Amino acid sequence: MFVQITGTGSYLPERVVTNDELAATLDTSDEWIYSHTGIRSRHIGADDESTSSMAVKAARAALASAGVAPEDLGLIIVATSTPDYQLFPSTACLVQHALGAVNAACFDMQAACTGFIYALETARGFLHHTPRPTLVVGAEMMSRIVDWSDRNTCILFGDAAGAAVLEVSQDETGGIWHSILKADGAGSQLIFREGGARGLPGGMPLIQHTLQMKGRAVFNFAVKVFDDVLCRLLERSGYTFDDLACVVPHQANARIVEAVARRMGVPLEKFYLNMETTGNSSAASIPVALDAAVAAKKIKEGDLIAMVGFGAGLTYGGILMNWHGRTEKSAPAVHPSRDLSAETNANTE
Ligand code: ACO
Repeated sequence: MFVQITGTGSYLPERVVTNDELAATLDTSDEWIYSHTGIRSRHIGADDESTSSMAVKAARAALASAGVAPEDLGLIIVATSTPDYQLFPSTACLVQHALGAVNAACFDMQAACTGFIYALETARGFLHHTPRPTLVVGAEMMSRIVDWSDRNTCILFGDAAGAAVLEVSQDETGGIWHSILKADGAGSQLIFREGGARGLPGGMPLIQHTLQMKGRAVFNFAVKVFDDVLCRLLERSGYTFDDLACVVPHQANARIVEAVARRMGVPLEKFYLNMETTGNSSAASIPVALDAAVAAKKIKEGDLIAMVGFGAGLTYGGILMNWHGRTEKSAPAVHPSRDLSAETNANTE
């Protein structure tokens, strides 16, 4: 039994904010932002939009492309660091209600920018036991948690939602082959947002804070783990970088991806990049880029692809998958078709 992505969808808010617009109120410039990040503009949600409203739009598109009805869904996972509520109800429950997905269990996944990867792998485990269509959404209103007076961070982020429908298939030629999920809590202070219950005296209300980041340290971490995750995913499959049709990275900074391509000695062209017009939309960035890569025919039937994420936590991870159908060269240590229950553990670190 293999788990396939059978539909994708995405949503970007209408309003586009360019670097020049940011430079009107910040000590920065289009030249600095583009040369350091590869970002020219980002989408920013309207006042009446929310993480859940964007998630619903992306989800509807993914369900339509998969041909799955909302009531057939068995599970909805929304990966987000910007849930509509702090902390409940989950954004997934709001999405379920709006879609009419009355039979779906729901929860949110918080693994920052790696959230979509973590959610995909969690959904894959669920599907081995409960083989009903599953919706995985990455959705973020980053504009609501960044400090718009801090040029070190606000220039990076944008709002977006992306979604994928996962279904089981008895066809052993395709689907998700391998995943790596990792975390290094020692780096928890490199990106954080205060405002939780930590350190608050009893009776004090939870308070809102903005995102704080040590950009250069995160940059160096990202390059190292990206390279490592991608190489190890390929090692396990028996394929090489040449066999990959497309790598869909977390769209944090084009310079991170360029550094990875240089370290690995591989062509940058195989990495699908769209941060120039989206910025970093955290957990939404990979599913939005995946949907765009499919629409642009950079990912086609039978292609071997990888997705790699990294972010606050620090979390990181990746997924290697076959887009619908292709035979694996060398079997993993425990082949999914032989031992379904052990498969997630055997192939997830
Ligand atoms: N415009 C002009 N100058 C700036 C700006 C700006 N927007 N931002 C920073 N600078 C200045 C700094 O103040 C510093 O000036 P100084 O030397 O006088 O002190 C100088 O530029 C260099 O600063 P660095 O931080 O070293 O710049 P760097 O090249 O590292 O770029 C950046 C900063 C873009 C943030 C980069 O480090 C980066 O992308 N890091 C990774 C971020 C990331 O991937 N986060 C991932 C996940 S986010 C999440 O999980 C929620």
